[in-house]
Amino acid sequence: MTMQMQLPALNFLWISLTLASLFHHGWALGAKCDMNSPTLQQTQVGFGNPPIYMVEVQNNCPLCPVINIHLKCGNFSQSLVNPRLLKVLAYDNCVINGGLPLAPSQKFTFNYSHPKFLMRPTTWFFQCE
Ligand SMILES: *[C@@H]1O[C@H](CO)[C@@H](O)[C@H](O)[C@H]1NC(C)=O
Ligand SMILES: *[C@@H]1O[C@H](CO)[C@@H](O)[C@H](O)[C@H]1NC(C)=O
Repeated sequence: MTMQMQLPALNFLWISLTLASLFHHGWALGAKCDMNSPTLQQTQVGFGNPPIYMVEVQNNCPLCPVINIHLKCGNFSQSLVNPRLLKVLAYDNCVINGGLPLAPSQKFTFNYSHPKFLMRPTTWFFQCE
């Protein structure tokens, strides 16, 4: 009796979680890229004071462009970089390339001169045909 009540509820929960996960990664067609989240790498390229960091964001999906890559970016200051490269929207919310597409496997690069900001991609949207 208890099982009969619970199984449909569990199925519903499972389906909801699956759909939520698909939406997060850019709907079902983005599933082609599920194992290929964009990555961000920072390399120190200037050793003065302040240091200079080169940021490289890569679309790791070889099949689909990715748009609207938002980063966790702390209190990154807009004055450090052209907003076309990195637009500061709010604390911990920056968007690269004006939200425009990075081609499959494309690397997107910009530099800033400041003590290091910790940054990582938070949300993005794959555009698979
Ligand atoms: C960012 O925040 C840190 C501490 O949270 C502070 O030391 C730093 O000066 C801030 N940077 C800017 C550009 O506001
Ligand atoms: C960033 O700095 C590196 C090392 O100085 C340089 O090779 C590269 O061209 C710079 N990139 C940009 C986008 O300015």
